[in-house]
Amino acid sequence: MPGIVVVGAQWGDEGKGKVTDLLAERADLVIRFQGGNNAGHTIVRGDEVFKFHLIPSGILYPGKTCAVGNGVVVDPRVLTDEIDGLRRRGVDISGLRISANAHLIMPYHLLLDHAGEAKLGKLQIGTTRRGIGPCYADKAARLGIRMQDLLDEKILKQKIYAAMEPKRLTLRPFAKDPALDLHTMTEEYRRFGHRLEPYIADTPPLVWRALDDGGLVVFEGAQGTMLDIDHGTYPFVTSSNPVAGAACVGSGVGPKSIDEVWGVAKAYCTRVGAGPFPTELDDALGERIRKAGGEFGTTTGRARRTGWLDLVALRYACQVNGLTALAVTKLDVLTGLDPLYVATRYLGAEGATFEEFPYHQSVLHKTRGDLIELPGWREDISGARSIADLPRNAQAYLDFVSDFLGIPVATVGVGPARDAVIWTGAAERLRPAAAEA
Ligand code: IMP
Repeated sequence: MPGIVVVGAQWGDEGKGKVTDLLAERADLVIRFQGGNNAGHTIVRGDEVFKFHLIPSGILYPGKTCAVGNGVVVDPRVLTDEIDGLRRRGVDISGLRISANAHLIMPYHLLLDHAGEAKLGKLQIGTTRRGIGPCYADKAARLGIRMQDLLDEKILKQKIYAAMEPKRLTLRPFAKDPALDLHTMTEEYRRFGHRLEPYIADTPPLVWRALDDGGLVVFEGAQGTMLDIDHGTYPFVTSSNPVAGAACVGSGVGPKSIDEVWGVAKAYCTRVGAGPFPTELDDALGERIRKAGGEFGTTTGRARRTGWLDLVALRYACQVNGLTALAVTKLDVLTGLDPLYVATRYLGAEGATFEEFPYHQSVLHKTRGDLIELPGWREDISGARSIADLPRNAQAYLDFVSDFLGIPVATVGVGPARDAVIWTGAAERLRPAAAEA
């Protein structure tokens, strides 16, 4: 069985949570490889609703090994809350492992994130204010504090001092904040260390072993390709690499360990925060899609911007990630919209056209999607469990997307329910037992 990477192929919030949850059933190990609690997804199990920000939702399968990889930035407060919440509800979390090399989000990272955005004013990125950017910045500056540092009080205190000191100037407005007291912070983080110690581990060997034993490993991405710090719409991006290549770095395996790369994409587009969005619908239709798709953030509750499916950006995502298949989500949200539109190229300033995703920020900011019309459908598709069950126009929509991108569609989400998914022939061997016909 293979190593399969699941990444967001758009601007995040594509519904990766549900796809990884379904793949996790057959997996021997699930590992998150980047991002932090800027991500969030909701999993429904029977009558119960679970919200996840850091721990792979695969943990809901009893005893499943679920790891938080070295590439993730961890806010220990959020992690311990998540652990407590799961325990309270009787979930067996014995399979949880946290990389000893994962970096920690510290109280000053949260304050710096807020301060940075306030300083940018109108130019702000619209971050989730979870301290993600400042934490990755400290990692790169070699001032980061890692999970393993929680286990040694002396080292912890030294490292906090060294990391906090250079930020004094920016943090001056928060000088009286008790959370920034060195002693208090060290004590608090040492307590987190005690609580997290049973789960802290050297995670790469767990992944190597699972793959050597012929197991299925799911590498779970967060955010999406267009939010990638290298390949996304910089600077309106997150501070990590949500693309597939980062699965190797963020979990400690080589590229040969990856057999498949699934890109998850909504049947339309959304984006949270600022930045270019060539197919945006800033009108009543956009509002209708927002309502129909429940497009409000799991993490921040913010209303998401909505737009038509952007095939230029999606083809770019295929290339940047080396996608082998597409997991289409929320096709049902398009039901009743007739006609539908997709962008197959961009129109720029002064009549320019772009077949490929433009690399230049100022060019991209001025582009609009050149839309082509496709026929919609009005039938309820939530009961469809095979492609043949879909109305002809819905099949044609998927065919158009797949042909344009040159990769097969593996799964199609047709409703919020866990089983409201079509598994195509391309995904047959990964289909969870519960979904087997
Ligand atoms: P940060 O990751 O909090 O630094 O935010 C940077 C940008 O990424 C902002 O535009 C956020 O809205 C966006 N972002 C971060 N995480 C997610 C996510 O999980 N879904 C969608 N957008 C996200």
